[in-house]
Amino acid sequence: MSKLIGPFKEIITLAKTPDKGSLDDSKLDIIKNAGVLVEEEKILKVGNFEALRGSADTVEEVIGEHVLLPGLVDCHTHLVWGGTRARDYTLRMSGESYEKILEQGGGIFDSVEKTRAASSEELKAGLIKRASRHLNDGVTTIEVKSGYGLDVENELKVLEVVKNAKADIAADLIPTCLAAHVCPKEFADKKEFLTYLERELLPQLMVKGLTSRIDIFVEPSAFPVEMAKDYLAAAKKLGFDLTVHADQFHTGGSQIAVELGARSADHLEASTEKEVALLAKSDTVAVALPGASIGLGMQFTPAWKLLDAGASLAISTDWNPGSGPMGDLLVQASILGIYEKLSSAEIFSGITFRAAKALGLNDRGKIAAGMKADMIAFPVNDYREILYNQGKIKPDMVWKNGKHI
Ligand code: NIG
Ligand code: FE
Repeated sequence: MSKLIGPFKEIITLAKTPDKGSLDDSKLDIIKNAGVLVEEEKILKVGNFEALRGSADTVEEVIGEHVLLPGLVDCHTHLVWGGTRARDYTLRMSGESYEKILEQGGGIFDSVEKTRAASSEELKAGLIKRASRHLNDGVTTIEVKSGYGLDVENELKVLEVVKNAKADIAADLIPTCLAAHVCPKEFADKKEFLTYLERELLPQLMVKGLTSRIDIFVEPSAFPVEMAKDYLAAAKKLGFDLTVHADQFHTGGSQIAVELGARSADHLEASTEKEVALLAKSDTVAVALPGASIGLGMQFTPAWKLLDAGASLAISTDWNPGSGPMGDLLVQASILGIYEKLSSAEIFSGITFRAAKALGLNDRGKIAAGMKADMIAFPVNDYREILYNQGKIKPDMVWKNGKHI
């Protein structure tokens, strides 16, 4: 049974928009007065609404003027945590640094303590609450990292929570294991901790169907470059896809991400020309996290330079209790756009198919035949209204796998 959805004033299809490099707005591939023909979970055809009527079994009429976009993809979040870090944020507002708070045993360690103490039910309720808000805001695919467990038992607990939550939310949750977030207090030696993860945790993740993705925080205060490289190489050998918290305060992480063929290198606030050039030449997606820059009061990822050099740029929230408590993808992408001088095509690509690419997914993020029917409609009559309103206008309709939710 095919279903025609529409009419829409404009559909931003991104159908032929390239994976890499800078884009002008002709690359939005806009179709006016258009509809989408959907069958089951997939898009069959996109085109003039009236012309498509004849080929549809049913019609889902959209009332009022709308602009349709692909469902948004948030390729980097830490949505499972216990407690709050309001205390950290208040300290940071009065000038204390993120790294100093961590060094003194607060920051990530605080969330680890609260997450370990929380029950699976509590953690799941928090995850569903945040993911539901995201879905309402049009985010139909959400990556979710562990990383506040930091031992086998608690990392498994968190990843099981993500697995169990999938049945309760229409958005796709894509889990990633970030057990190598920082070295927990029980281990005096970072290398020893990584060896423990390699031997005791990683082999269980695939067998239990918990995740096929491994992340690490590469930073002197977390894990140094060479040690991280060995850990990532071992994970790759076991068959995992890789992603890296790279160049947030110091460089080094993005280089090993590129060398090991990671799907993405995320953060990059400290990346210099050298790292920009390496990323641009590679197939590793550069992920900007404006929410972390805003949450820490620091510079943005050099998004414009990355695009200009030819990189693939995704934009993501980094939603987490510490550095990125806001969790609003559209607000953050709009703000990054105006500071970094990005085109609408670069921003929309960064929060749709380029973010999907960072997750190794090529079945979503464009409104084109064969793609998943994940779509969001904004109550505006011109696409430029969306970013101009800086995230204040949210979609008023969301379809996931062809179903209006
Ligand atoms: O991506 N930088 C490392 N990890 C997270 C923050 C985690 C936290 O502060 O709780 C990030 O910013
Ligand atoms: Fe992060």
